Amino acid sequence: MKVCILPQPAEVIDYAADLLVDHLAVMPDTVLGLATGQTMVPLYDELVRRYRDGLVSFAGVTSFNLDEYIGLGPDHPRSFHAFMATALFTPTDMDIQRGHLPRGDAPDPAAEALRYEAMIRAAGGIDLQLLGIGKNGHIGFNEPGSRLASRTCVKALAASTRAANQLLFHSEDDVPRFAITMGIATILDARRCLLLATGRAKAAAVAAMIEGPVSTGCPASALQGHRYATVLLDAAAASDLRHGGDYHLERP
Ligand code: F6R
Repeated sequence: MKVCILPQPAEVIDYAADLLVDHLAVMPDTVLGLATGQTMVPLYDELVRRYRDGLVSFAGVTSFNLDEYIGLGPDHPRSFHAFMATALFTPTDMDIQRGHLPRGDAPDPAAEALRYEAMIRAAGGIDLQLLGIGKNGHIGFNEPGSRLASRTCVKALAASTRAANQLLFHSEDDVPRFAITMGIATILDARRCLLLATGRAKAAAVAAMIEGPVSTGCPASALQGHRYATVLLDAAAASDLRHGGDYHLERP
């Protein structure tokens, strides 16, 4: 796990955008794993800016998002389908037909999870997986207690996750209780992982992910076993690390 701590969130976003743009320059037909959430908003904004400046194209990209709420169809304004359409797919030259997310309105969510896992495999697997981290250490919607060997499946959302995500809903009661999420083993199959965390609220989860034992208590800790995982942190998200000085403190 390569850990890089930069002072400000804007530097984290800029570096992540550079890594993605460089990756797409070398491999324009890449299979990207995408994430939603507030951490990703400024990153997608920056990628759209670079697309408009002619610095990157998404025309050859196939993508698979980590997760989707069960019960929300693609047209629901709070669905992750809608989030991705607004944040990245529509403002760029990405072929929306190749931007995949699990269907939250599938009549049989467990069957949809299997179908999604098979689609990822049929696409040749994920070349580069973008990740955020929950305050409880989740990646995707793999909440604490999730099996580290899990594949795409239906998961119940933790109360703290529903509380964190209520911002975009009228109330916490409106936040769906279940999601379809790539499993931890599905995520670890990606040839490269790039996790971003910014802000003090993520500091405890970040410390558990990097310096804690690999454990279901912090699903993100499974990334310690990945052969090519990069973690980009701002100083606030890194503030609970005991060995903070031992990591990259500038772009490696
Ligand atoms: C979103 C996802 C989640 C988020 C995490 C952090 O697709 O899979 O794991 O990355 O909940 O969310 P933010 O960035 O909103 O703090």
